[in-house]
Amino acid sequence: MAARPLLLLCFVAAAAAGVLQARAQPDSKGFISIDCGLPGKTSYVDDTTKISYAADDGFTDAGANRNISAEYIRPRLSRRYHNVRSFPDGERNCYTLRSLVAGLKYIVRATFIYGDYDGLNRLPVFDLYIGVNFWTMVNITDPGGPQLIEAIVVVPDDFVHVCLVNTGAGTPFISSLDLRPLENRLYPHVNVTQGLVLLDRRNFGPTADTDVIRRDMIRADRLLGDMYPDDPHDRAWLPWVNPAEWLEISTTRTVENTDDDKFAAPSAVMQTAITPRNGSTSIEFLWESAPQPKDPTPGYVAIFHVSELQLLPSSAVRQFYVNLNGKPLLDGSYTPPFLLAGFVYNPSPFTRYPQYNISINATANSTLPPIINAVEVFSVISTATIGTDSQDASAMMAIKAKYQVKKNWMGDPCVPKKFAWDRLTCSYAVSTPARVTSLNLSSSGLSDDISSSFGNLKAVQYIDLSNNNLTGSIPDALSQLPALTVLDLTGNQLSGSIPSGLLKRMQDGSLNLRYGNNPNLCTNGNSCQPSKNKSKLAIYIAVPVVLVVVIASVTVLLFCQLRQNNQGQNNNGRCLTWRERLRIALESAQGLEYLHKGCNPPLIHRDVKTANILLNARLEAKIADFGLSKAFNLDNTTHVSTNTLMGTPGYMDPEYQATMHPTTRSDVYSFGVVLLELVSGKPAVLHDPEPISIIQWARQRLSQGDIEGVVDARMRGGHDVNAVWKAADVALRCTAPASARRPTMTDVVTQLRDCLELEKRSRGGADVNTSNPSSSYSTYATDHSTDASQNNTSFEMEHNFGRMPSMASGPAAR
Ligand SMILES: *[C@@H]1O[C@H](CO)[C@@H](O)[C@H](O)[C@H]1NC(C)=O
Ligand SMILES: *[C@@H]1O[C@H](CO)[C@@H](O)[C@H](O)[C@H]1NC(C)=O
Ligand SMILES: *[C@@H]1O[C@H](CO)[C@@H](O)[C@H](O)[C@H]1NC(C)=O
Ligand SMILES: *[C@@H]1O[C@H](CO)[C@@H](O)[C@H](O)[C@H]1NC(C)=O
Ligand SMILES: *[C@@H]1O[C@H](CO)[C@@H](O)[C@H](O)[C@H]1NC(C)=O
Ligand SMILES: *[C@@H]1O[C@H](CO)[C@@H](O)[C@H](O)[C@H]1NC(C)=O
Ligand SMILES: *[C@@H]1O[C@H](CO)[C@@H](O)[C@H](O)[C@H]1NC(C)=O
Ligand SMILES: *[C@@H]1O[C@H](CO)[C@@H](O)[C@H](O)[C@H]1NC(C)=O
Ligand SMILES: *[C@@H]1O[C@H](CO)[C@@H](O)[C@H](O)[C@H]1NC(C)=O
Repeated sequence: MAARPLLLLCFVAAAAAGVLQARAQPDSKGFISIDCGLPGKTSYVDDTTKISYAADDGFTDAGANRNISAEYIRPRLSRRYHNVRSFPDGERNCYTLRSLVAGLKYIVRATFIYGDYDGLNRLPVFDLYIGVNFWTMVNITDPGGPQLIEAIVVVPDDFVHVCLVNTGAGTPFISSLDLRPLENRLYPHVNVTQGLVLLDRRNFGPTADTDVIRRDMIRADRLLGDMYPDDPHDRAWLPWVNPAEWLEISTTRTVENTDDDKFAAPSAVMQTAITPRNGSTSIEFLWESAPQPKDPTPGYVAIFHVSELQLLPSSAVRQFYVNLNGKPLLDGSYTPPFLLAGFVYNPSPFTRYPQYNISINATANSTLPPIINAVEVFSVISTATIGTDSQDASAMMAIKAKYQVKKNWMGDPCVPKKFAWDRLTCSYAVSTPARVTSLNLSSSGLSDDISSSFGNLKAVQYIDLSNNNLTGSIPDALSQLPALTVLDLTGNQLSGSIPSGLLKRMQDGSLNLRYGNNPNLCTNGNSCQPSKNKSKLAIYIAVPVVLVVVIASVTVLLFCQLRQNNQGQNNNGRCLTWRERLRIALESAQGLEYLHKGCNPPLIHRDVKTANILLNARLEAKIADFGLSKAFNLDNTTHVSTNTLMGTPGYMDPEYQATMHPTTRSDVYSFGVVLLELVSGKPAVLHDPEPISIIQWARQRLSQGDIEGVVDARMRGGHDVNAVWKAADVALRCTAPASARRPTMTDVVTQLRDCLELEKRSRGGADVNTSNPSSSYSTYATDHSTDASQNNTSFEMEHNFGRMPSMASGPAAR
């Protein structure tokens, strides 16, 4: 005889009680009980269970409250089914349950009565996720019938998201959402990577004396849902009687749980049981596999709760087998313990079948027919998908809360990938949690100060907060973000000065900080109040500045336009010789090498050009006009100022222009342009007749071997061709479009020294006399260009069940 349980449905008779203030946190029992769609911040006590139900304000910030149609409000329909929250917008909408204990097991339960709340009379189908893992498909098949979906999972964090996902088959909605804590010893199937989804939970044979039996137990919408406080875990056990086939047995004595109990079946459930009416037959029931979109043949586990309720004479034996589809599940037989909650269960899922026929039959030695008190059937789900790194996730939730960001900012920030929050970029790896790598909240109407939570996004490379109404000062915590390369704060109302940590990061080229158009921000050293930041800054600037004696720039001399004769006596009116030019090149290169390698942290000049190479009376070259000083003075009109892109047209590294991220190789590029100018005597941008960069101009000629077409004719042949070739070659390598292919300044210094040697050997003359003959700053790594690689491999864990599992059982009989 087979009776087929329906998917667990519940009907709760309850009346409204007093209104309390809602709290978006667990009560003293650790319960969270939400009446979804209840307006305001109210709560009330459920009449049957005395559990306090809260409105969903504070648990979700999306969706709309709707009432079900009056025709579906029957007299004893529990209050939480009178209204729903519906989510017409967005693909994924979530509730966030907080103040949990990370690593603990919880029952999470959602209920649904459609009740034609939208007047469309269209039954929706949608998906539920628990955290970042698929939970189940919700298929509403009856407009007035309550549907209950329950999972048992380990919660990995101190919060859990429950998300409704629109799959294009109707608007997701929800009536109530509950969370109940479980002791970790219970339901041993459940661990961090595996959860259980309830298919059915049945209480066999409740007697006519109980409140339950007075209802029509067979009709699904008239079944008992709430068991609290009879079941301290508030599980819903549906009564199951079949008087034609089954005889009911009951006791008023308490059925105890044993010390090694794994399921904590409540006494109220265990006090009733059934046996076959014909003592020679077996107890039979079945369930059918319920395919899920992501798991067409789910794996099932069953727990058979059995307890002997009758004190048997010593001659009597009750002993039985449990069979699935005709095959025994236990190695031997089972004898239920007297007034103790016994159980038989499969620790790993059954072989997958379309139908599961259970038959419980007596052994040959048994003098009594088999007995069963309750049964639970679950499918297993994988909860192996891990969410965003918890520090990143907490930081993003705090940022969302602070700025009241709506968008699709619900659930986990990065996972699943297709529901990742707008304006975020995440990196995904196979075995490590997803990380937030960029955050673009440009023009998002943010007000208030900059949240310190930004400082907890430890893997973030790019933060754009431009064009908002952010106030207050810039938190120094941002300088502690190791991967941050761009921080755009342009166009806000920030005040105070730039924290020293950030200044340092700017100077060493590891951070591109953009802060223009903040009228109250103190960016000029003079208008800042005295602070520690300033004195540190002074050190960085002072070292190079003392080297500079401003006399004349190379440009002036290159173009032979020196008119003023305050110096420059012996140099007046003539052009520089090739050897002089080489020496200037070498000394300038050494100056840059010093900035890159000799300073700690390394400095990036950012505006290397002939006009910034200054010569003293002996034509000794010094790098001047330090770019780092410009970093604090955006108004300098001699510089391109697209917010923060710094440099001079014709000298600017294309990679820096593309990435806004200067590196020491940007200086190398600019230096290459200077070197070409020194060789050719031409400006960085030629008019030939169309504007053309000196790099292209020189490349064209040199590619045809035309070195004389490049060399400055005003040198009047006073040069060694090999040395010029070598210098031009160095210049072309310095101006390689890809920064990785450019030499370091140390390489350049070495090459130029070789040039000077060549020149000296071929033409004779004084020894090369440089201030720093042995430049050996090779211990530094200079390339700051970072390009975080993103591994896009997603991670889905496959179930790997399928063998016939062994069965375990609870306490043995006496
Ligand atoms: C739902 O019904 C209640 C009364 O039962 C009413 O106060 C409330 O305004 C209704 N809400 C909506 C959204 O219609
Ligand atoms: C929902 O359930 C109905 C009735 O059982 C079934 O016909 C329909 O195919 C189901 N929808 C989906 C998407 O599985
Ligand atoms: C969880 O249980 C499953 C099935 O027993 C097992 O395969 C998996 O390794 C367990 N996971 C952890 C983290 O223990
Ligand atoms: C009880 O079941 C046995 C075996 O199926 C059958 O032979 C017997 O007739 C049944 N007895 C009654 C009274 O139905
Ligand atoms: C389960 O039992 C039903 C009758 O109760 C039968 O039709 C079906 O074939 C059985 N299924 C299996 C897999 O044994
Ligand atoms: C009862 O189950 C056992 C074990 O599966 C089996 O060997 C035996 O044939 C069954 N007896 C009846 C009457 O079905
Ligand atoms: C049935 O009883 C006999 C004799 O007491 C015993 O040898 C046998 O193992 C028992 N069978 C079972 C299944 O317990
Ligand atoms: C950041 O968002 C703004 C506005 O949507 C957009 O203009 C800008 O290009 C974005 N920045 C990046 C780097 O994607
Ligand atoms: C800043 O706030 C003012 C009013 O408070 C508003 O008019 C303005 O549009 C906001 N600016 C931005 C960029 O959000």
